[in-house]
Amino acid sequence: MCGIVGYIGNRNIADTLIDGLKRLEYRGYDSAGIAVIVKKKIISIKAVGKVSALSAKITPAIRKELSSSKFGIAHTRWATHGAPSERNAHPHLDEKGRFAVVHNGIIENYASLKERLISQGHKFVSETDTEVLAHLIDDCYEGDLLQAVAAALKKVEGTFGIAVISSENPGQIITARRGSPIVIGIGTGETIVASDISAIVSYTDKVIYLNDNDIALVEKDNVDLRNIDNVPVTREIAHINWDPGAAEKGGYEHFMLKEIFEQPEAIANSIRGRLDEEQGTGALSGLNLTPQDLATINRIIIAACGTSLHAGMVGEYYFEDLADIPTEVEQAAEFRYRNPIIHPGTMIIAISQSGETADTLAAVREAKNKGAIVAGICNVVGSTIPRETGRGIYLHAGPEIGVASTKAFTCQVATLLMMALKFGRARRLSRQNGIELVADIHRIPELVKKVLAKSKDIAKIAKKYANAHDFFFIGRGYLYPVAIEGALKLKEISYVHAEGYHAAELKHGPIALLDEKVPVLALANNIPGKDKIIGNMQECKARKAPVIALATEGDNEIRRHAEDIIWIPECSSETAPIPSVVALQLLAYYIAKERGCPIDQPRNLAKSVTVE
Ligand code: M6R
Repeated sequence: MCGIVGYIGNRNIADTLIDGLKRLEYRGYDSAGIAVIVKKKIISIKAVGKVSALSAKITPAIRKELSSSKFGIAHTRWATHGAPSERNAHPHLDEKGRFAVVHNGIIENYASLKERLISQGHKFVSETDTEVLAHLIDDCYEGDLLQAVAAALKKVEGTFGIAVISSENPGQIITARRGSPIVIGIGTGETIVASDISAIVSYTDKVIYLNDNDIALVEKDNVDLRNIDNVPVTREIAHINWDPGAAEKGGYEHFMLKEIFEQPEAIANSIRGRLDEEQGTGALSGLNLTPQDLATINRIIIAACGTSLHAGMVGEYYFEDLADIPTEVEQAAEFRYRNPIIHPGTMIIAISQSGETADTLAAVREAKNKGAIVAGICNVVGSTIPRETGRGIYLHAGPEIGVASTKAFTCQVATLLMMALKFGRARRLSRQNGIELVADIHRIPELVKKVLAKSKDIAKIAKKYANAHDFFFIGRGYLYPVAIEGALKLKEISYVHAEGYHAAELKHGPIALLDEKVPVLALANNIPGKDKIIGNMQECKARKAPVIALATEGDNEIRRHAEDIIWIPECSSETAPIPSVVALQLLAYYIAKERGCPIDQPRNLAKSVTVE
């Protein structure tokens, strides 16, 4: 949610920190700041709003003054404790101005710590939980910055990813994590600390991911890694295979549009090398499960949040229909707190684009504690969930920068389908059925291309309905989760109130809201359930609601039931969610554009939700 950057090396410090913050902008934030040490004094500059507002405050004179320094820290904040303001923006300093701290996460016992520090004479200026860290470090400092930070962290409860500098220890950044990611980029004669690899990829491809309770002393040419008890630890240097250009807009007006159009390639990357055409099954070695292991799985629980949760709902149909395994989908926060029942043979699948979502990660830990087989389906390589599950599947969708998740969803669904195919083949699915499904999966990128080719038609429909205040999306079977996902896309980027419902549920209450001003989008593709949804569309029309249908090309009958139609290529029930959701992503995008919304950074939202 918040973003951290720290840099130590020979580049211009202000430019480098601002560049790093800009690369984290997509995560969502409300204020930003930097701290740099010049002539043994910490200079901190903060601004409310965009990184450009902070950048504007760094005048040529300030930039020149800061340029004598070769290290500093920076932060983008997403407010939790205290409103977005300069006072509450990070970095936070102790009252003597010797220590500057940037922090992601939440210090849960900050109120009692603050009270004690105030009684000892410390003076606070902000309403944040983070400021206690700066005062605590000051309290613990006896000349060794790493020891002081470690001692301070031992007193705090909650989660943190932090970076700290001190006017007493030039040339050093201390960074640590518990529950909030920190990555250290190892360059040549320079080191970068960040909460997210997107701030690192343009400098180096060599990174170290900190584990929980790791603390590091970072210098220009050296990283000294320990655990919080001061015991040296070794962490592997990983290589990032992101093309730095993948995190640029590449000529598109928004990251979201770029990512929608990248889907044929992203899905092709997700499925490449993972299908066995001969045996009609999935080849998913990352799951690390033998056919014997697969035969013992008697229940699946999928835990996830937001869009990943909706992908999980499609997965539930796949595992039950194809593999005969009873499957439930749980909002990850609910899973972690309601003491789930896990018996031998229960498998938990955690789905997360970022691999860092706090509730999904906590669900993984709860499942592991209860002895379940736990696998992750994640996009960001090296993120915490795949590292903690130790088994799973990477999406290989490439970086997703737009806050509204698009390509991650379609790759998650394709991955769940390959997984269910593999599980099904180890249980009840015939080789012939498997071969047919493999062929279907290979066709998905082409299906998506066909929908993308209709973007202009979808934009026209979007223009017609852009002023609606409320919207309903209805679907059945495999397309029910797609209705919910379509509504989520619309509400998060266009701020139009939208609800996704099972088509049969509408008349159990929500139909009371329908009138000529409330459009209903019906997923009426030519797959089982279509006849029933036509009945539901009639019920909406009878209440004067304008009906927009998603329908299968050539299905002319549908024209009698809808005012507007978005045509989807003919495909199987199993693959239908993917081209259908792409159409809904485009509809949401064009409606948001018509309404002049900040599509890549919708208000109040963050790309990666690392707090509960
Ligand atoms: O990174 P994750 O997939 O775990 O994120 C889960 C949700 O926060 C995320 O899908 C969110 O709902 C998106 N804004 C949806 O577009």
